Amino acid sequence: MAVIRIRMARPVDCSALAELRYQFRAEAGSAAETKSRFVRRCASWMKKRLFTGSRSWRCWVLDDGKQLLGHICVQVFEKVPNPVKEEPELHAYVTNFYVIPEIRSHGLGKRLLGKALSWCRAQRVDSVLLWATPESRTLYRRCGFAEPADILELRHAVDLRRSSK
Ligand SMILES: CC(C)(COP(=O)(O)OP(=O)(O)OC[C@H]1O[C@@H](n2cnc3c(N)ncnc32)[C@H](O)[C@@H]1OP(=O)(O)O)[C@@H](O)C(=O)NCCC(=O)NCCS
Repeated sequence: MAVIRIRMARPVDCSALAELRYQFRAEAGSAAETKSRFVRRCASWMKKRLFTGSRSWRCWVLDDGKQLLGHICVQVFEKVPNPVKEEPELHAYVTNFYVIPEIRSHGLGKRLLGKALSWCRAQRVDSVLLWATPESRTLYRRCGFAEPADILELRHAVDLRRSSK
């Protein structure tokens, strides 16, 4: 395997990130949007979220010098300040975690996740939250994640059909 390094995403990566996002989601289900339209929409989203404004989003990529082979994103979000005891005032959400199928099971996913988690620690993030697929649970457990007793989730049955405009 070529040398693969982990680095922060750069603005020039946005289209490649959008292409990989399409590949990731299309692996799990049939796409309801054409690839070209999705890549345009998602690349623009990446550019805005990762490189402008409040910069609550961060993304790390696997790069072999020729192309991107995987990625992970983190969004930090604030707690309301707490005057009673000293505690970290940020949480983080991990998402868009993907390694291309050809290079899976070589520890690259764990390294990517480790990078994102070290960054979260450096930001003094309190809880790191994510939604896990059944297949990925062993990896998350190895990295310290556990099912909490105190989190509740409500899922709305939202009609997600996109307008054709
Ligand atoms: C999850 C993923 C990024 C891990 O990448 P990786 O480089 O294979 O990870 P590692 O080699 O460090 O670790 C292997 C672990 O990945 C997990 N894994 C393996 N195949 C998987 C799959 N098809 N989907 C999700 N997780 C998988 C397992 O936990 C495995 O550990 P185990 O062999 O002890 O069960 C990669 O499998 C992937 O992109 N899967 C599809 C997208 C996905 O499911 N993302 C996570 C959503 S919560």
